[in-house]
Amino acid sequence: MSNTNEIQACIFDLDGVIVDTANSHYKAWKRLANELGFDLTPEQNEKMKGIGRMESLDMLLEIGNIEADKKEKKKLADLKNGWYRDYISEMQPDELLPGVIDFLEELTEENILIAIGSASRNAPTIVRQVQIGRYLDALIDGSKVTKGKPHPEVFLKAAEEMGVEPAHCVVFEDAQAGIDAARNGGMRTIGVGSQQVLHNADMIIPGLNEINLEKLRTLEK
Ligand code: G6P
Ligand code: MG
Repeated sequence: MSNTNEIQACIFDLDGVIVDTANSHYKAWKRLANELGFDLTPEQNEKMKGIGRMESLDMLLEIGNIEADKKEKKKLADLKNGWYRDYISEMQPDELLPGVIDFLEELTEENILIAIGSASRNAPTIVRQVQIGRYLDALIDGSKVTKGKPHPEVFLKAAEEMGVEPAHCVVFEDAQAGIDAARNGGMRTIGVGSQQVLHNADMIIPGLNEINLEKLRTLEK
């Protein structure tokens, strides 16, 4: 008989959880803001984490009090994405955040399914570059969803593709929008980062080097 709290799958956000690309997104948005004549603080950037490309651009333009039509917005988003892709183009497996491989190995050994649920359209490129594809049972990226976090679509699609009920999934997230998305989808959450930034996650860890199966299983109780 299966325990109703049993963890059958882990769904990982990518940027800021598996790789340190959250910083590269910030660098590229800040560069765009500077080109447009204003600055982007880390606090303002925090709210953009986990949010899709065009929605993030809208937030940035609002901060700078800048109006742009659809065509101009597309140009600005492409400019930012070009810089971002430059920053990540040399990314190697050794740039996986500490503890990632050990934990993915441990989950695989225990037959716990693994997915990536990311708002980024660059997710498949990054997964390829850091060579973690072999661990994944599902990869849902920004091109596969119509509603961004905090809507739960990205995580629900990952669960569906793995054939696991949301109640049996745990989501790892570094963004508040992502924690909210997982909770909205009826999933348990582990916040990756600090308690000051992330609210209402079931557990907070500083990074994946601070989690193992035993600790994960405490969420089953
Ligand atoms: C992730 C990041 C966001 C980023 C979004 C879209 O959710 O946390 O900072 O804006 O993906 O990424 P993309 O690579 O498609 O521009
Ligand atoms: Mg993230």
